[in-house]
Amino acid sequence: MKILVTGGAGYIGSHTCVELLNSGYDVIIVDNFSNSHPKVLNRIETITGKPFKFYHSDILNEKEMRFIFLNEQVDAVIHFAGLKAVGESVENPISYYHNNLMSTIVLLKLMKDFNVTNFVFSSSATVYGDQQTVPLKEKLPLQATNPYGRSKLMIEEMLGDVHISNPEMSIALLRYFNPIGAHESGLIGENPNGTPNNLVPYITQVAVGKLDYLKIFGADYSTLDGTGIRDYIHVVDLALGHIKALERNSQQNGIEAYNLGTGNGSSVLEMLNTFIQVIGRDIPYKIKDRRSGDIAVSYADPSKANQLLNWKASRDVLSMCEDSWRWQSMNPNGYEQSKNIEVSK
Ligand code: NAD
Ligand code: UFG
Repeated sequence: MKILVTGGAGYIGSHTCVELLNSGYDVIIVDNFSNSHPKVLNRIETITGKPFKFYHSDILNEKEMRFIFLNEQVDAVIHFAGLKAVGESVENPISYYHNNLMSTIVLLKLMKDFNVTNFVFSSSATVYGDQQTVPLKEKLPLQATNPYGRSKLMIEEMLGDVHISNPEMSIALLRYFNPIGAHESGLIGENPNGTPNNLVPYITQVAVGKLDYLKIFGADYSTLDGTGIRDYIHVVDLALGHIKALERNSQQNGIEAYNLGTGNGSSVLEMLNTFIQVIGRDIPYKIKDRRSGDIAVSYADPSKANQLLNWKASRDVLSMCEDSWRWQSMNPNGYEQSKNIEVSK
């Protein structure tokens, strides 16, 4: 089965390609490297020992994408490609709506033309907005609190309409909670551009000395230790969820949303302390004001994915932190000038 993976050079996409190749799928990656590095492709090949196809294209370029669909017998599409920084989306909403919506529209047009019906979409727990109750269930009313989240919500709604127009379609909306960790080899991992926005890459960059100290955004939430709680999920567990979604899509038509989370919440201080344990030394931090737009607590009810996809996250927070740290310490500058690793095609 041939899977077109858009954004396959990115953080979650690269880990999913490894699991797809290891499971015997044929993989075609399309990426424009707007937020990734070409070296990741060699690393995927090194980890898996399996060949795959790569097209350096922008999904917005319908002509180039049509060529790919003409050239390859695509059986299913996993659509990771998109812009994902919440703050940037507030500053530049048009580029978020343009890239995230139009890339999906181009893919859906081509899927219709080439009669491809299996679609797995990277959605986000951000579509729940700020809810009063946790754990978060798929049936909750959705709300967006920023343009990034609204782009995901709009795409989920668009996909609902597409399914009504063609009930033969099988669509999985995967709502990721907080992906962290890296492949256990330390060869691929999260490689943020500039200063990281997210907690874990920030902590690991403080730990390698690239940043001075962690700023904890608020210690006055009504949580056990006052800091924000999130459902951190190992990126390899997340990757495996995509394979389960593809399998279910192959067996059953329909459109379903699934929470991909562990169902457990960890606070910022708990995460920091786990890293201190893994690294074996202190990590400096300062308590700061709350970050605007942040919510206190978010964690998943993953039971729908457990039941319908037969998927369950199995890696705990300690192994997530160990793997994040292995990746960061083996690659202090991300894919640029990685230490002790020479990978050739
Ligand atoms: P990422 O930025 O590492 O990967 C996205 C990839 O898409 C990059 O390689 C980028 O170069 C590529 N890309 C972007 N626009 C493109 C275009 N027009 N044409 C071709 N390639 C393009 O991000 P990620 O963390 O791997 O996230 C993957 C998906 O999951 C995104 O849609 C994101 O919104 C969603 N998501 C991520 C998180 C998270 O915390 N990482 C949480 C929830 C949802
Ligand atoms: N935090 C800090 N200091 C930092 C960064 C984060 O204290 O430097 C705190 C936040 O306040 C929050 C927690 O760490 O309590 C997690 O923050 P992240 O930025 O890592 O993650 P978010 O939950 O804010 O957002 C992430 C993605 C969003 C996505 C959402 C749900 O960035 O795109 O998860 O999937 F929508």
